[in-house]
Amino acid sequence: MIDLNEHNITGEVIRRWDGCADARFKELMAGLIRHLHDFAREVKLTEVEWMAGIQFLTAVGHKCDGLRQEFILLSDTLGLSQLVVAQNHSRAAGATEQTVFGPFWVEGAPHLAHGADIANGAVGAPCHVRLTINDLRSRPVPDATVDVWHADAEGGYDVQSPGWSMAQAKMRAVFKTDARGSLHFWTVLPAAYPVPTDGPVGDMLRASHRHAMRPGHLHAMVHKPGFDTLITHVYVQGDEYLDSDAVFGVRGSCIGEYVRHEPGKAPDGTVKDTAFFTLDQTLSLAPA
Ligand SMILES: [Fe+2]
Repeated sequence: MIDLNEHNITGEVIRRWDGCADARFKELMAGLIRHLHDFAREVKLTEVEWMAGIQFLTAVGHKCDGLRQEFILLSDTLGLSQLVVAQNHSRAAGATEQTVFGPFWVEGAPHLAHGADIANGAVGAPCHVRLTINDLRSRPVPDATVDVWHADAEGGYDVQSPGWSMAQAKMRAVFKTDARGSLHFWTVLPAAYPVPTDGPVGDMLRASHRHAMRPGHLHAMVHKPGFDTLITHVYVQGDEYLDSDAVFGVRGSCIGEYVRHEPGKAPDGTVKDTAFFTLDQTLSLAPA
């Protein structure tokens, strides 16, 4: 009989996976058990704290449904999501960096022609966006599929409206790049917004005196055979939350200059009677 104590229990728990045929599963479980036990020993976890942790994770599970994923929000706000994204997409210098996907992309957004206004009535200052997709040698990538989605001037996504369906799509669309690797469209300037705080993750942020804000950004996902699919953001340069993004998603290669213009002629030749913004951003794809 093994006389288990708080010092030797870890080895015994890991040994229970000795018969596991799946080497990767075995490795994952051994690492998880080792770190979990070391955590409990290091902080001298009390029984009350252990129960508080169980209750917190239970509440996180209860908050999840088909549209709300509180566990991903927990992973995001603990920096785990961005860590996993970064280590799975370490890219050569010059390639646009990968960032967290976020919960607001929806499959089946409308495929639109260049120059379309994807705002579809959303509130905010008009913003003309040009994206150019290049490879690492600055050659254009034509016929790439580019999904874009973002929040309005009040920080809301269309999907957050009750009863939303794709027929009411705003600020989301799919484009194809032309022979110069380029696409352009009109929308509204994206604003900073808070991650959802009406669940246990919100309680955790409040208890930590952490804010829930993400800096304003445009999401982009670029598919092209032969390249590593790029999921990234174009953050608004100068946003006050760039250095304290609640989900740690900001990367140096993902900041965009959204330039303010007085009323007048826009880059596509249209004339605006209100002030407007322009973004002209190049995204560089790494090979698959
Ligand atoms: Fe977002």
